Amino acid sequence: MADSDPKRATAEEAVLGYLENHDDIPDSHLFADQAKLNHDDIANAIKSLTGHRYVDSQEITKETWLLTEEGKTYAVHGTPEVRLFLSIPQQGITKDELQKKFDASVFKIACAQAAKNKWVDFGKQLVTRKIQHVDNDKVQTLLLRIQDAKEIQDISQDDIKALTKRKLISLQVKKGFSVRRGLNYAPQRKKVATDLTRDMLQSGDWKDLEYKDFNLNAKGAPTERVFKAIFLNDIAEAESANFQVRKQLKDIFLQMGFGEMPTNNYVESSFWNFDALFQPQQHPARDSHDTFFLKVPSTTKELPEDYVERVKRIHESGGHQSRGYGYDWKREEADKNLLRTHTTAVSSRMLYKLAQDCAQKPFTPKKYFSIDRVFRNEAVDRTHLAEFHQIEGLICDRGLTLGDLIGVLQDFFSRLGMSDLKFKPAYNPYTEPSMEIFGYHKGFGKYVEIGNSGMFRPEMLLPMGLPEDVSVIAWGLSLERPTMILYGIDNIRDLFGHKVDLGLIKKNPICRIGLESD
Ligand code: PHE
Repeated sequence: MADSDPKRATAEEAVLGYLENHDDIPDSHLFADQAKLNHDDIANAIKSLTGHRYVDSQEITKETWLLTEEGKTYAVHGTPEVRLFLSIPQQGITKDELQKKFDASVFKIACAQAAKNKWVDFGKQLVTRKIQHVDNDKVQTLLLRIQDAKEIQDISQDDIKALTKRKLISLQVKKGFSVRRGLNYAPQRKKVATDLTRDMLQSGDWKDLEYKDFNLNAKGAPTERVFKAIFLNDIAEAESANFQVRKQLKDIFLQMGFGEMPTNNYVESSFWNFDALFQPQQHPARDSHDTFFLKVPSTTKELPEDYVERVKRIHESGGHQSRGYGYDWKREEADKNLLRTHTTAVSSRMLYKLAQDCAQKPFTPKKYFSIDRVFRNEAVDRTHLAEFHQIEGLICDRGLTLGDLIGVLQDFFSRLGMSDLKFKPAYNPYTEPSMEIFGYHKGFGKYVEIGNSGMFRPEMLLPMGLPEDVSVIAWGLSLERPTMILYGIDNIRDLFGHKVDLGLIKKNPICRIGLESD
């Protein structure tokens, strides 16, 4: 089908038309220049044509040397040092007289460079020439060559270094494509029919036409989504399934003797979200592709310095029988503010606090839980949202084992209506051993993943200052997951967020599949 964007359509025509008579387009930038088209339009056309196999393309990077603003001025007028030299008469000139001929900033550069080149003597009374002539302005000549050719092939490395150091030239790296004809190449995009019409049937055209694929998964036009606008009160109601499970979970935790952790900070530092949890600074989860970092305020104001020092040491060189990760731990990374990616950030703060208390009074075992919002830079689909809720539980006591963890998980999930559990070994930077939790789902007839768990590593607990023989077992899961399973909701976007269909929430009573009534 012809592209509806006229710029892209022109770019497409240009690319396909050119390939009719040429084997390839070696460089999309040169091509765009020659065709007098915008490179972004050409690149978009190439990507789209590649998707439909009209063309095959490869990404290329191209390095171009460009003159900076200062470089451009020197290319036109010559360098300050040569202009200075030429302004000094044979018999010399006073510095004041000489200075009058130049702008202050240019004069400063001119003097510095001329002195460096040993062209000029700055005497007490007079500025004089040290050499007879400066034949040509070498720097200007180099700049003009670079300006014309945009390449530096026959210019020496030293010259390039010197020009770069003086900030007269800079390297620009551009991404582009090389393009060839693809499997479905045609000089023009074929028009694809979107409908089969009576005319086509009568004329017989239908036989030769290509048809656009139907998207059989597309939902029909929404009918009763008038309430979709975001009215805060209604959203709360829309989320009622989520809310019900949240309340149920809170009751379960309270019945099991757990105390709630304070979760009222969506913004967290990388330190508490990652570093305190022994998550190395190169870990992919710490990339902006996975985590939302804050622009303002971009860094945290305060961290407990002595503890930061211990965390740095355990990452860099280990301790407490650990080897650490052996890399250069950077404070700037730890300071970066983010939207917390898990409520384990809250757990790490709580455990640190508990360790502080231990310095004053004897250690007492603790059970904590939290249910609150977390954020991840995820592509949104049926089962993932960029913000969701996490449930987290932890027990801190002497002599805990993996058996205790399995036992408490059995207790917890069976209270939720999921008693058939299986565990699979897993990996978390902050727990060892770690286990994924699977629950049997009657409706689906299979085990589905419902959570993640483990025993916090000594590398996390000992720098906090907890006693050596204290262990912590913990688990976490998303609130949306059991809600979806228990209420038979198959698209997370029906449950939480701006796409919730309020009409549906208002009309349909909630049908609870697995939960026992209280
Ligand atoms: N923080 C983990 C997650 O984001 C869950 C977890 C909590 C795992 C505690 C182990 C221990 O999935």
